[in-house]
Amino acid sequence: MWYYIFALLMIKFLSKVKGNDLGKTAVVRLDFNTEDDWRMRTAVPTLKFLIKRGCKVLVLSHKGRPKGVDKKLSLNKNAKKLSGFLGKPVKFIPHFNFGEIREILEKAKPGSVFVLENIRFLKEEYENSSVLAKNLASLGCFYVNEGFPISHRKDASVSAITKFLPSYGGFQLEKEISNLSKIIKKPARPLLIILGGGKAGDKLGLLKFFERRADKFLVGGEPANTLLWIKGVDIGESIAEKDNRRAFLPILKFRKLLLPIDYHIQSKKILDIGPKTEKLFALEVARARTLIWNGPLGLFEKRRFEKGSMAIARAIVSNKKCFSLAGGGETVMFLRKYGFFDKFNFVSTGGGAMLEFLAGEKLPGIEALNKSKVKSLKPKLQVKN
Ligand code: 3PG
Ligand code: MG
Repeated sequence: MWYYIFALLMIKFLSKVKGNDLGKTAVVRLDFNTEDDWRMRTAVPTLKFLIKRGCKVLVLSHKGRPKGVDKKLSLNKNAKKLSGFLGKPVKFIPHFNFGEIREILEKAKPGSVFVLENIRFLKEEYENSSVLAKNLASLGCFYVNEGFPISHRKDASVSAITKFLPSYGGFQLEKEISNLSKIIKKPARPLLIILGGGKAGDKLGLLKFFERRADKFLVGGEPANTLLWIKGVDIGESIAEKDNRRAFLPILKFRKLLLPIDYHIQSKKILDIGPKTEKLFALEVARARTLIWNGPLGLFEKRRFEKGSMAIARAIVSNKKCFSLAGGGETVMFLRKYGFFDKFNFVSTGGGAMLEFLAGEKLPGIEALNKSKVKSLKPKLQVKN
């Protein structure tokens, strides 16, 4: 926990930059990896800040997990969307010819914005390659990480790049660290954790970290199905991480664990919590003073199975004494769809990154900013192609 308090002091955040003492060209890592545009929106203040200071901006992002070039995962459309948010043209660069990109940037006017093609088209990105990082670094004078959701990945444009450029944290990244660390440091009690959705295994770290710190765990979705199945409950054909039995077994021993007691079932699958569980969970929510929510409690995309998540969201927003935090792609989509979004105290842009942060792990992207000591070193271009 102290690690992140220390990080808040150590990292150079854009919010602390006075005047125009940044370089001319910024290489900015964002995360466009969601079906909706919410993550992109959260990066707008950082981009506008840089544009206002006359910086040329080169945006890097990934989408999906491509192995090589996959045109379906091109960032072309994202560049257009970003242009709408910024109210100015955004040029898309469809290739990785670094010499050419450097020339484009050199010729560009101050305040121009460019989006480079999906950086995961290059396998070196996943490998945290120093060669790729140097090439990317050679395109700018400083680097900004405004991609909290990707900060749990040790990728070249998140981690290695900070070895070659003076590196800053963006506005949203700063908000994420400060809000999430507050919860780890001294949460008001009772502290309640609500978990649902899919990817049950991703939630294990958080469950274990908070075993003694949280006062109650309310579990639905795939993690609940997995636990119910281990308990011997007939879950029919519901999704469950049966391969993860061993890892989930100790969770069943948590005294503070509440599992669904009734469900809505269709085609032999549990698709939502039932009315008794809604009441049971809502009672706990009403008592909470801090609450973390990751993962809807039912398949809310279908109207019939949105009730459980709706009941819990209503209970959360009507508890005015509670600091409410939510995160994760599906949860955010749910909150936005039903108008709960603005009623939460903080909504994290991170999915896996938020879970890892809250589980007390060091995120490689934040670690890299913490360690980056580069002042104004500009590496020589290493053109590979
Ligand atoms: C996310 O959407 O969680 C981030 O963009 C990270 O993507 P990844 O899980 O494919 O690394
Ligand atoms: Mg993920």
